[in-house]
Amino acid sequence: DNVDLGKCFEIINNLTTEAGRLIVHNNETRQDFVCKSGDIDLVTQTDQDVEKLIMNGIRHHFPSHKFIGEEESSTDAGVKKLTDEPTWIIDPVDGTMNFVHAFPHSCISVGLKVNKVTEMAIIYNPMLEQRFTARRGQGAFYNGRRIQASGQKELSKALVTSEFGTTRDEQKMKVVNENFANMAKKVHGLRVLGSAALNMAMVALGAADANYEFGIHAWDVCAGDLIVREAGGVVIDPAGGEFDIMSRRVLAAATPQLAQELSKELTQFYPQPRDD
Ligand code: IPD
Repeated sequence: DNVDLGKCFEIINNLTTEAGRLIVHNNETRQDFVCKSGDIDLVTQTDQDVEKLIMNGIRHHFPSHKFIGEEESSTDAGVKKLTDEPTWIIDPVDGTMNFVHAFPHSCISVGLKVNKVTEMAIIYNPMLEQRFTARRGQGAFYNGRRIQASGQKELSKALVTSEFGTTRDEQKMKVVNENFANMAKKVHGLRVLGSAALNMAMVALGAADANYEFGIHAWDVCAGDLIVREAGGVVIDPAGGEFDIMSRRVLAAATPQLAQELSKELTQFYPQPRDD
């Protein structure tokens, strides 16, 4: 049956606005948290409340739609399998570490997939009123204004973002540090801002030129993938091949040339388990 994408877009915009008020209110003070997979992988009451608010709001209008939500995935029997059914992939608070510290750089990140294709995406930082949106084939927008990736082709002129991630696994940290050390010598500037989704949004905005990370999950990158591509950028696997949303690996860049040049510089890491 047909999915009313226009209605979906309107509803998710309204729900993220509503959920954003909750996040802004709770971002005024340092938040209590519980550790998930390790002592720097955090979840707060707000993550859970926002995820419920958004899921219930969508269910009310579209009872048959499916969900892959960050917090649900960590309590259930893991991440649900992605099917052809309309599926909302939701990170209620991306950048939970920032949120816990009242650092105003976190966001709600939501993508809708139909037949496994991402049809719409929202990344919304309610503290700074930054709303990035895209619908497939219709461009990417920042607070309603059309945006374009920078067009940068050279790594030596690129502002690049990445993250330390949410695990202190020794093997993983070794790769992260190796890549940071190498990047520091090769790129124009290197930034670690604490939200995988906003890192990608910055590539779409043309404010950063590339982003890579090993260890992200589907909900961290589903929206960012569409927003970057609709802004004219590219999203690939960090080893140079096709992006696989379940692989926990991502590389976004302003141009294919920059993506490939960055890919060649990276020490690779294949996080386990995958999301599927
Ligand atoms: C995390 C943040 C972090 C990134 C991790 C993500 P969360 O998302 O985006 O910056 O390094 O890979 O999982 O846990 O805050 O939603």
